[in-house]
Amino acid sequence: MLLTVADARAEAQRRLPKIFFDYIDGGAASEATMRANESDFARYRLEQRVLTGITAPALKTKFLGKTHAMPFMLGPVGFLGLYAGNGEIKAASAAAKAGIPFCLSSFSIASITRLAKQVAAPPMFQLYVLKDRGLALDMMGAARAAGVETLFVTVDCAITGIRERDVRNGFRALTRVTPGLALKLARRPGWCLDMLRHGKLRVEALEGRKEFGRGVLAQASALSARIDAGLAWKDLAWVRAQWPGKIVLKGIMHPEDANWAQQLGMDGVVVSNHGGRQLDGASSTISRLAEIAAAAPEIEVLVDGGFRRGADIVKALALGASGVMLGRATAYALAAGGEAGVGSIIANLAKEIEIAMALMGCPDIATLRAEGARFVTAL
Ligand SMILES: Cc1cc2nc3c(=O)[nH]c(=O)nc-3n(C[C@H](O)[C@H](O)[C@H](O)COP(=O)(O)O)c2cc1C
Repeated sequence: MLLTVADARAEAQRRLPKIFFDYIDGGAASEATMRANESDFARYRLEQRVLTGITAPALKTKFLGKTHAMPFMLGPVGFLGLYAGNGEIKAASAAAKAGIPFCLSSFSIASITRLAKQVAAPPMFQLYVLKDRGLALDMMGAARAAGVETLFVTVDCAITGIRERDVRNGFRALTRVTPGLALKLARRPGWCLDMLRHGKLRVEALEGRKEFGRGVLAQASALSARIDAGLAWKDLAWVRAQWPGKIVLKGIMHPEDANWAQQLGMDGVVVSNHGGRQLDGASSTISRLAEIAAAAPEIEVLVDGGFRRGADIVKALALGASGVMLGRATAYALAAGGEAGVGSIIANLAKEIEIAMALMGCPDIATLRAEGARFVTAL
């Protein structure tokens, strides 16, 4: 049974080829920021209150303009379809059944068009701004046509951090399945069969664009090479002008940057250091959340990084987040148990949030957010 994110991680490690598990599990350089994301939750404590009579706190809450069943969502994670066959559709279906949003990464096997056809709930989409603005516009157009309202623009990954596990595994240099790689993959026959059942993997959004090469590995590497490494605030004004819906900047770690986002007319930010995969040595997200939220009071502030427990989510809401995004938790759960695996991780997190709130005497998410200091204390 997949009870916790840690259970899902252990099972994912058993099922996935090492090269893919390490890609999910690893971070930049010494992985200090990645570890701090998780361990810094211990710097905040929940207030236990008794005899409040509260038995079933309500988890329903509004963020990004809509009411959702729970205060968290599945954030963008690249190549879910490599961790389980049809992984993007499976994760999005699990999210839809739970009543929470799913955001599709631009690095995906399933296209936003197919996702919208196969999953009833409207998806969200994550964009990397590409040097080829025409292609970036095409991606936005496809998202719009698929019914996407909220666009997450990831701004912390223009230059990729050095992820040493990937360097050692030769992950970055992969463009095709070499005999050496095939041997390594064959050590996980269950995963191989699952992938073979789903035919040749390719990035559907790049259909018909021969210049990206053939097969998912070549396409991924060609797409990464086209991310605009020199992206600057002026380019964000261009994105703002192109997209009529909500824009959320993902990867904000400084109050001044959050304030800039507000001034540029963005609808929100995600306090994120990309799960410790970019600037090693950066602060944990939870430790900066409150000051960033205070610097951008007119827009929404979401957060991700290291969320593995319901109590982590409770702390973030009390410290000023309107919603939390899961990263690795989704990937581990998908690899470990497909759609049902993601569903059980979502359900268990919800249960943990509900029980924590009951034991804190907190009736609903609105109260937790409005009176955060009553529920969470910093050490
Ligand atoms: C395997 C993997 C792939 C990711 N791919 C993307 C991506 O394509 N776009 C993006 O904006 N963020 C991506 N992220 C970052 C996540 O959205 C998120 O910021 C991070 O995983 C949060 O930390 P956590 O994994 O500790 O929850 C990825 C993260 C992982 C682990």
